[in-house]
Amino acid sequence: MPVALEVRDLHVRVSGREILRGVDLSVGYGELHAVMGPNGSGKTTLAYTIMGREGYEVMRGDILLDGESIVGLPPHERALRGLYLAFQEPPEIQGVRLSRFLIAVVNKRLGEEDLSRLGDPRLLGRIYKLLGEVGLDRSVLERELYVGFSGGEKKRTEILQALLLEPKVVILDEPDSGLDVDGVRMVARVIKRLRDEGKAVLLITHYARLFNYVEPDQVTVLVNGSVAARGGAELAKRIEEHGYQAIAAPGGDR
Ligand SMILES: Nc1ncnc2c1ncn2[C@@H]1O[C@H](COP(=O)(O)OP(=O)(O)O)[C@@H](O)[C@H]1O
Ligand SMILES: [Mg+2]
Repeated sequence: MPVALEVRDLHVRVSGREILRGVDLSVGYGELHAVMGPNGSGKTTLAYTIMGREGYEVMRGDILLDGESIVGLPPHERALRGLYLAFQEPPEIQGVRLSRFLIAVVNKRLGEEDLSRLGDPRLLGRIYKLLGEVGLDRSVLERELYVGFSGGEKKRTEILQALLLEPKVVILDEPDSGLDVDGVRMVARVIKRLRDEGKAVLLITHYARLFNYVEPDQVTVLVNGSVAARGGAELAKRIEEHGYQAIAAPGGDR
């Protein structure tokens, strides 16, 4: 499988503190790569850095998409090149309806800056279909973006966008947190579908419960901002049974 996303010796500083200290991983097209690690190990920092979020300073190393460095590109440019991040905790945005937001992001992707396709029945039809697939009611479209959404509704909306935008590389940051068993199954189904469609999927999770429904091809474990272990699905099972303590952590100063 050709490599889609590659992270090389990544060192990242946030608010003057080094959070990632040498992370290497790669995800191929049609592959599911799980990044695991205890709370505070740097998983979300990795996701934000890949997306180019402001304040996440790359001190050393590189991030390549299709073999080309994307470090230095602004987040919207990375999105245009096919990266999508489903946020662990998406921010609430007042005054913007979900329907308008979804149509705007699709149009941006297509290079159409205007919102003239707001009423395009094909696009709306597709959104309705995806709402059903992720288990959301159509009425969410009329609500302000994430304002008053439950944790589960936020997660489902983030997943919907992963399907709607058809990115090449999908990063899912704890997509199953706060979801019930049906929600977890839905997320697993979507991950399988993305992988089968040939997308590169980077799944960030601190539990292994999703792996009851979908097996990762590769697993990388972060502890204290560096890679503590690598393996396949069996590594995720080992963590589920014995916890992160079973994995020898490299020396950290925290
Ligand atoms: N904006 C920030 N400023 C300072 N420290 C941060 C910031 N964001 C995260 N951190 C710290 O970085 C470490 C890793 O956080 P994070 O990437 O969110 O971990 P995870 O997603 O694995 O739980 C934590 O110690 C956290 O406190
Ligand atoms: Mg996190």
